[in-house]
Amino acid sequence: MTQRQADVQTGLEETRRPKTRRAVETKTARTRALVVGAYLNPRQQRRAEAAVTRTVDESRSSEARIAEARGLAEAIDVDVVGTEIVSLSQIRPATYLGQGKVEALATRTKDEAIDLVIMDCALSPVQQRNLEKAFDAKVIDRTGLILEIFGRRALTREGTLQVELAHLNYQKSRLVRSWTHLERQRGGFGFLGGPGETQIETDRRLIQERITRIERDLEKVKKTRGLHRKSRRAVPYPVVALVGYTNAGKSTLFNRLTQAGVLAEDLLFATLDPTLRAIKLPRGSEIILSDTVGFISDLPTMLIAAFKATLEEVLEADVILHVRDIAHEDSEAQRADVEKVLAELGIDFEQPGRVLEVWNKIDVVDAERALVLLNAARRRPSKARPVLISALTGQGVDELLARVESLLANERVTLDLALDAGDGQGRHWLYEHTEVLGRRETSDGALLLTVSVPSAMADNVRQRFRLAPKAARAG
Ligand code: GTP
Repeated sequence: MTQRQADVQTGLEETRRPKTRRAVETKTARTRALVVGAYLNPRQQRRAEAAVTRTVDESRSSEARIAEARGLAEAIDVDVVGTEIVSLSQIRPATYLGQGKVEALATRTKDEAIDLVIMDCALSPVQQRNLEKAFDAKVIDRTGLILEIFGRRALTREGTLQVELAHLNYQKSRLVRSWTHLERQRGGFGFLGGPGETQIETDRRLIQERITRIERDLEKVKKTRGLHRKSRRAVPYPVVALVGYTNAGKSTLFNRLTQAGVLAEDLLFATLDPTLRAIKLPRGSEIILSDTVGFISDLPTMLIAAFKATLEEVLEADVILHVRDIAHEDSEAQRADVEKVLAELGIDFEQPGRVLEVWNKIDVVDAERALVLLNAARRRPSKARPVLISALTGQGVDELLARVESLLANERVTLDLALDAGDGQGRHWLYEHTEVLGRRETSDGALLLTVSVPSAMADNVRQRFRLAPKAARAG
């Protein structure tokens, strides 16, 4: 491999390794970013909607959209120094924005020493390049921004590969000279780091080779995924997954629950993965709590596979807690978005007790609205009744834990097992991991145990132990 090739590969590595980049950033000043929401004005939007399929995002106000974009930008550790909404009557092929606006923004980026302009829209490579030239700053669009976030959040092997694949495809389409120009001039901060000017073709080939390799790896990962799930299932605790829109409060709730519950430290992987924790519920049953990447409106098509792969965990969950920001003006649209993706993943909403809505941020809702919400929740069937909470103040969290516990208790099965006299290890495992309801020794020294286990774990227990005839049930 030539040095040049090595450099390119390192450059790619760098884009995928946020930790390294963060370390670099702390040495230098933090990137100063401006978030620009360039949205078609309502009349033009309606015309566009008639022409293309309407997405949920188009029903949102410009203010809500830019607030979300700002929140996303903050998730990549840049210093957001301002936001600006630009109402467009048409999209310009060369620069997306009109000439006057481009010039005004160029002045602003210069005056405020902006390094990075985040455009909350989908830019073509040409538009991106022209804006970079005009602003003399790095420009990324919504896809670029979301890729950065996913890159930081993807945890599973498949998730990481999917994100990298999306990143490389995006990078390949943007492999143009101006990147290099900016890269050299401004030093770069790792975003979609562009390789050398004279080597574009070589770089494109290297990226393509890497894409091919990742696609091959992904096939392998998909094949072995089933096996991993099986071994995962050997862990005897039910899994409770938190899903929800970005900013709904999942992480706040995750932290509160893990603080409220007693950490079960004997679970090896629970301490290895920051988004998985084993906790004890009030009545003593243990669960694994799993946090996930937040949903984002208007997800670019090329990112859907990557996003779904990061949600792999959810498919495995016994109970899914759908955390909603009930105080948000777009709460309903957000719910629809989340449910649509979950349904596409194959989650069965009809299955009673599988998905529980958690109406969060009740502390910022006024008393009158809180009452309306409470009544709306009460009208739902008991198993599907949302729980009103504030992850921030802790209000309602005990009730939530109790609800989770009772949902899981409903899903337990009782098994009668026969153990050979010498199977001390098996006996020990059952006492550790199941609820032993009864025990009796037979005349030949065998042990009959009646145990209660979560239904999701029952198959494993059945495979590992011999079932005793019902008549021999342990007393
Ligand atoms: P992503 O990581 O983007 O998916 O977001 P998240 O769903 O994990 O949200 P997070 O927990 O980061 O919370 C987002 C913001 O909402 C933070 O500023 C929290 O402090 C705030 N927040 C979370 N829960 C509550 C709540 O119950 N009440 C209020 N008032 N604020 C809350």
